[in-house]
Amino acid sequence: MVKVLLGFMGVGKTTIAGYLGAPFLDMDRMIEDRLGMPIVDYFASHGEAAFREIESDVLAELLASEEDVFISTGGGVVIRDENRQLLRQNRRNNILLKASFETLYDRIKKDKASERPLFLNNSKEAFREIFERRMALYEDLADIIIFVDNRTPEEIARIIKCV
Ligand code: S3P
Repeated sequence: MVKVLLGFMGVGKTTIAGYLGAPFLDMDRMIEDRLGMPIVDYFASHGEAAFREIESDVLAELLASEEDVFISTGGGVVIRDENRQLLRQNRRNNILLKASFETLYDRIKKDKASERPLFLNNSKEAFREIFERRMALYEDLADIIIFVDNRTPEEIARIIKCV
């Protein structure tokens, strides 16, 4: 069974997955291995549309797995209709991690290890609009919603293991 961690950039999907004590696959790392370069560089050289094609391929491959595995997704995985259809078929296994926009904005700003092209290329207000549009899409797909503000990754992982 594949369990999917969904949520906006900076919410901690990959960090939390690391505390689950269970096999997990990180979509962004898999995509970067395939691209042979950081996502931010691929966005700059090939554009977002090319990135989204590869993201959809990787999602489809992962969701077809028969194994018991957690998938930590990239925050933009919900923007394509074909991805949402695949995620909808994964019902009861979509876990949404949710935090306030300001918390996420601050975290992303400080995160120099993982640069997000959409953060770098948008004003704060435009980024907030992306957040709001995306939240509606995540919530439509989510079977379980966990609020991460004021919780440690260990606590969140413990909650996930109970559901
Ligand atoms: C993106 C989120 C990133 C990464 C890429 C695009 C997005 O993943 O896939 O920069 O559109 O929200 P994280 O959610 O892990 O930051």
